[in-house]
Amino acid sequence: MTARFPASRPRRLRTTQAMRDLVAQTRLSVDDLVAPLFVREGIDEPLPITSLPGVVQHTRESLRREVRELADLGVKSVILFGVPSRKDEIGSGAFDPNGIVQVALRDLREDLGDRVVLMADLCVDEYTSHGHCGILDGRGSVDNDRTLEVYAKAAVAQATAGAHVCAPSGMMDGQVGVIRAALDGTGHTSTAILAYSAKYASGLYGPFRDAVDVQIVGGGDRKGYQQDWRNAREALVEVAADIEQGADMVMVKPALSYLDVISAVRSVVDVPVAAYHVSGEYAMIKAAAANGWIDHDAVAIEQLTAIKRAGADIILTYLARWFAESARR
Ligand code: PBG
Repeated sequence: MTARFPASRPRRLRTTQAMRDLVAQTRLSVDDLVAPLFVREGIDEPLPITSLPGVVQHTRESLRREVRELADLGVKSVILFGVPSRKDEIGSGAFDPNGIVQVALRDLREDLGDRVVLMADLCVDEYTSHGHCGILDGRGSVDNDRTLEVYAKAAVAQATAGAHVCAPSGMMDGQVGVIRAALDGTGHTSTAILAYSAKYASGLYGPFRDAVDVQIVGGGDRKGYQQDWRNAREALVEVAADIEQGADMVMVKPALSYLDVISAVRSVVDVPVAAYHVSGEYAMIKAAAANGWIDHDAVAIEQLTAIKRAGADIILTYLARWFAESARR
């Protein structure tokens, strides 16, 4: 019997796993991944984060161990977030040479030298008593320019402590230029900047705020400085401004709800594009899988691959360790 519909070319190339692997257009590698890690001041044991299953607030020691293990697994980039034991109005823990992230950077640089790319998230929300990403003016709004002065000091503190990359995530206007100038002015000319350029005011950061013990005072939000998720075009304006000011790499965040933005950014810039698969995206996979509603590994790999297929060169993901371990199996 002759087939009514002859096999199509795409179907012929889907016949076996080996064939599918041969023609696959998108390949995810452990080299693409950055592991976000939390380090908390003043604790003796790592503390689990309930809404981020498998992720912990590290002690200095457990962080050192984790980064060494990640490096051995092939994950050669990490981004650090600090949880200070004391917060204040201006977030001084973000620039204190003995602030928790600075101390952790020195530890890791001592342990690993240049084997791992050490990135430091650069923002003050983890360090401010009010939970905003900047310094407040008298009326409770963020004062952009006073905040920039603090960011500049934080960048210098991070670079001095050993960061290879500063990653400003506060969405203040002019932040990249001010940080570049502060780094260059203190001799840190080879410290790179990964700008969180297109960062949306997303509902998907909930578990992260548990991870860093941040509550925005008075039930406030970040809509005055983070992007409105109804808008795609303005992401290109933000990205262009950051590159103009000296960003070495740009980021879109979150990832999955913004694949169109990742793709648009990729098509107009020449620098590496990163995407952050954020806490809520990770938590949704974990929660659904824990209920037996989805297959964890299948969905995790599908999501990470989709982010790469959309155009991201670099993916920040809490799945980095899982990916590295399952890639070895
Ligand atoms: C701000 C910052 C946030 C995240 C990374 N950097 C939170 C926010 O903007 O509220 C979120 C990351 C995640 O959800 O995984 N310092």
